[in-house]
Amino acid sequence: MLFKFVFTKTARYPGLEVEHNQFLRNLRTLAVNIKYRGLKRTLLGLLAALFAKTRFHILEEYRFFRQNMREIGLDIAGVVETDMLDIPEERKESAKRYEASSDYEFRYVVEKLHLDYEKYHFIDFGSGKGAVLASASRYPFKSVTGVELSQALHETATRNIAELYRRKRVTARALRSVHGDVTEHSLPPEPHVIYVFNAFGADILAEVIDHILRDLAAVREPIYFLYNNPMHHKLLEDNPAFEKPKKTFGGKWEVFVRPGRDD
Ligand SMILES: C[S@@+](CC[C@H](N)C(=O)[O-])C[C@H]1O[C@@H](n2cnc3c(N)ncnc32)[C@H](O)[C@@H]1O
Repeated sequence: MLFKFVFTKTARYPGLEVEHNQFLRNLRTLAVNIKYRGLKRTLLGLLAALFAKTRFHILEEYRFFRQNMREIGLDIAGVVETDMLDIPEERKESAKRYEASSDYEFRYVVEKLHLDYEKYHFIDFGSGKGAVLASASRYPFKSVTGVELSQALHETATRNIAELYRRKRVTARALRSVHGDVTEHSLPPEPHVIYVFNAFGADILAEVIDHILRDLAAVREPIYFLYNNPMHHKLLEDNPAFEKPKKTFGGKWEVFVRPGRDD
């Protein structure tokens, strides 16, 4: 029974989350929390989670869910189901619901890339309220941009960005949220790290991959594509322009690289 629990892969929300090993993912959540949040606060977080299951809701402020984002005054909370998003009807079929990425998971994966940040632009396709923009702006990227189709979510992201600047928490050289459709957002021909958190279906992703490869064709540096909850990973795996680095990133992450060129 225990053996089965430890080694079985599951998708928590079939059709939304890719299959992953929940036990290993929990272990990793613990490890990244200890790394970025410290042992004491992680233990308090575990206690808070236990209390949340009882009628004594104490230590609430230590709950794991994006606690560090709340502390710096950002509103990234909640889940907005697709039919509640203020986006064009014809996009609703492909768009996925809004939900924020985990800051600690993101930082763990980005730091593993050992990037020369100053050379790279970072872009989040389907950026919601800007949780990942806040995480990426901790690093000295050349710029950090989010593209979001929902006007309401984009406006929240803009307020969050203003708060980050007010608190002097932006290390990236520029940080912005853009209201628009990812298929219409063109990229300058410079090195990029692209991030997608299960934001849309295969149809939109295929268009995005095409235009990334087209816009960045002249770039000599490696181009990184970070795909969190990669429901349509086959599209990147089957694309001869991309490779998967040998090191694994774990959790429910896939990282792809369009290799650099010497010519
Ligand atoms: C799962 S949320 C991810 C939010 C954010 N990237 C994060 O990790 O915190 C996906 C977002 O993609 C947006 N989206 C879906 N289709 C889009 C499109 N065609 N163009 C721009 N944004 C889109 C949705 O409105 C939603 O906010």
